[in-house]
Amino acid sequence: MRLSGRAGRATPFYVMEVAKAAAARAAELARAGSDKPMIFLNVGEPDFTAPPLVQEAAARAVRDGVTQYTPALGIMPLREHISRWYAERFGVDVPARRIVITAGASAALQLACLALIDAGDEILMPDPSYPCNRQFVSAAEGRAVLLPTTAADRYQLSADQVEAAWGPDTRGVLLASPSNPTGTSIAPQELRRIHEVVRERGGVLLLDEIYLGLSYDEAFGQSALALPGAQDDIVSINSFSKYFHMTGWRLGWMVVPDALVPVIDQLAAHLFICPSTVAQHAALACFEPDSIAEYERRRGAFKARRDFFVPALAAAGLPVPVMPDGAFYAWADCSEACRRLGVADSWELSFTLMEQANLAVTPGRDFGDAGTAQRIRFSTANSMAQLQEAAARLAALLA
Ligand SMILES: Cc1ncc(COP(=O)(O)O)c(C=O)c1O
Repeated sequence: MRLSGRAGRATPFYVMEVAKAAAARAAELARAGSDKPMIFLNVGEPDFTAPPLVQEAAARAVRDGVTQYTPALGIMPLREHISRWYAERFGVDVPARRIVITAGASAALQLACLALIDAGDEILMPDPSYPCNRQFVSAAEGRAVLLPTTAADRYQLSADQVEAAWGPDTRGVLLASPSNPTGTSIAPQELRRIHEVVRERGGVLLLDEIYLGLSYDEAFGQSALALPGAQDDIVSINSFSKYFHMTGWRLGWMVVPDALVPVIDQLAAHLFICPSTVAQHAALACFEPDSIAEYERRRGAFKARRDFFVPALAAAGLPVPVMPDGAFYAWADCSEACRRLGVADSWELSFTLMEQANLAVTPGRDFGDAGTAQRIRFSTANSMAQLQEAAARLAALLA
């Protein structure tokens, strides 16, 4: 069968290849009755599930037959809840009419790219960054331009870099803050300067704020939607996957300028008809005080895990150059660990850790080229007991 050039251009998603190998080894260990079962530190999703009120709301929607299509932009009560959440949590006024419900941040990113990018347009993004972003841009026939970042810039772009890289075909900038794979956020004053550079050039700033709810440092936990003029040229992408622990429910949202609402409405109706009705009705219960209290307890648990695991990694010989201020990732420098184990790079190291310590981790290569062969991503979305055991295994292996 002849495949499209587009399909041929898609790069492999290495995270998934490692995950498949880890799952196979985990099954093998379980069959053999190993006393050292696989620990999964490669997974980019919370180990918690949706809290009770959300589960009950989903069951009620199914039982009551509330399962027909909804408007393409999503149900208004959910858009209103999200609008109130922005006001209460971030102190930003985001009218419900600018909030579009989507099938996860993934659909939001896809819709934003299709609505804003023409063939040949360039989108600047940091290296390292979330691998799928490049695919969303190229599916819209644009070109992702990766700009290398450093620990000094918290693995985020600087305004000077954006200014220097901006060319005749540049359409905008796509950032995630906090970022996957680094868990680090962009400094607010740098974001403000990037926004100014983008504004002056008539571009668009796409801000993936999917991990903003899982922020552990007040200096960074602010939405870009609070920037002056954000309503004109910032698209903020968000999701129920991470802070709200609903990965498989496939529900997210984005906040778009007023002018984009009818365009997204039409595109979303054609491409998706609507986001999942059951998930939307369940998500209404995310904003109940009991659910928010539970989410906040869990945010505290994620912070405690970070506070334990990042120093434990450093002690084992895997330093994390920038303390993550959000999300549940640690982006560790594995040069010393590779040297000690006699392996070439993080790709080989991830298989060595899988085979010798029964630990599944994610090698850096998916996320870009800037030094990623010497970086490994650990996910701390696992219980404290598992993280303690993982730290002990790493310390023993790398001693
Ligand atoms: C930075 C980032 N953006 C978007 C997504 C996609 O999330 P969703 O489940 O909402 O589609 C992920 C998932 O891991 C992510 O890490």
